Amino acid sequence: MSASRMEERVSQRTISFTLNGQPMRLEINPHETLLHVLRERAAAAEVKSGCERGDCGACAVLVDGRGVNSCLTLAVQVDGKAVTTVRGLGTPDAPHPLQAAFLEQGAAQCGFCIPGMLVTLQAFLSERPAPTRAEIREAIAGNLCRCTGYHKILDAAETAARQMRAVQA
Ligand code: FES
Ligand code: FES
Repeated sequence: MSASRMEERVSQRTISFTLNGQPMRLEINPHETLLHVLRERAAAAEVKSGCERGDCGACAVLVDGRGVNSCLTLAVQVDGKAVTTVRGLGTPDAPHPLQAAFLEQGAAQCGFCIPGMLVTLQAFLSERPAPTRAEIREAIAGNLCRCTGYHKILDAAETAARQMRAVQA
């Protein structure tokens, strides 16, 4: 074994976290990003890899309910925490109100931005259940969409917010 390979193995760390409610235990290198670990080690291909420098929001996930860009998060930082991707928001049979509204209103085109968009909106609406359209626009300012022009995304987010408030009332 080469010296660099041996050094790499010595510095490996084991982390435990939940991914969409499922317990995970992985051996990682401390410099690995959460994005890399989720996609390459945890089969979470729904987390998209875009700019990999914090500019596009395609890689957004929830960590303990808070939205983060997984390309800017080290995997060691989620040790002991709960990670949620878009797959954890709902199921085809029981979609999250955001997923249902995006689908019904045709708010997705190519779909690349949507996983990050939905988790960002989930984190935002859980803290601000009755936002203005301007506030929603600001909340997704870090989530770039090259296809839709954002109007249908904003419409769908407003619809979902209303539905989520109705469920909680
Ligand atoms: Fe993480 Fe673009 S891939 S912000
Ligand atoms: Fe294509 Fe947003 S739907 S990038």
